[in-house]
Amino acid sequence: MVAPWETSTGPKQSTMIESLKQAAAEAAITYVQPGQLVGIGTGSTVNYFIDALANAKIAIRGAMPSSQASAKRLQKRGISLIESDKVFAVDLYVDGADEVNPHNHLLKGGGAALTGEKIIAAMARQFICIVDHKKLVTTLGKFPLPVEVIPLAKEYVAHKLIKLGGQPIYRDGVVTDYGNIILDVHRLVISDPLSLERTINQIPGVVTVGLFAERKADKILISTPEGIQRR
Ligand code: 5RP
Repeated sequence: MVAPWETSTGPKQSTMIESLKQAAAEAAITYVQPGQLVGIGTGSTVNYFIDALANAKIAIRGAMPSSQASAKRLQKRGISLIESDKVFAVDLYVDGADEVNPHNHLLKGGGAALTGEKIIAAMARQFICIVDHKKLVTTLGKFPLPVEVIPLAKEYVAHKLIKLGGQPIYRDGVVTDYGNIILDVHRLVISDPLSLERTINQIPGVVTVGLFAERKADKILISTPEGIQRR
């Protein structure tokens, strides 16, 4: 999926965005301590974090990836994975986002990895979100809200999402790591992310929704042309 802010960017601007993503990812390295279990999100910003983590050579206990894509990249960069069935918590979780509001609530799932991301965010003692400044919004919802759905429930869940005021669009050809589908919900103005997260999560057939309000980020590292801002 192409994010709305990417539709009008030329090559020069997208190179700048890539540098900003890389700077946010590198800033997150200072939060990693030797001996830690580190949860790893998914996406292009996190890919820079994986590369930076490999270069930093910090003796972490292991990494817990939120997706098969991140697992592959970690292995390729020589970072050892922890056996996920043996842990119930991670020390630190680093992930990107599609949108961030002023309360550090996130909208995520552009990469279809929202379920793994939500599980590890919930397991994390500290959750750091790394973004470029274009991801900051006043109100979540300009980026279509991803919902992971069990295939059997596709039409039922779509019907319920329409009743909530959204316009769900099936993400064609995408199968998640857990064998499910994604509905991207357009036209939602998400003024109460916590309430909407709870409401959508209760629809039978929904695996999870890409709102991170119940477990929001503890810290946001925002990469701007003037440097890194923390909040
Ligand atoms: C994947 C996600 C990503 O964090 C989100 O899409 C941001 O990705 P990127 O860093 O490529 O802009 O939620 O499911």
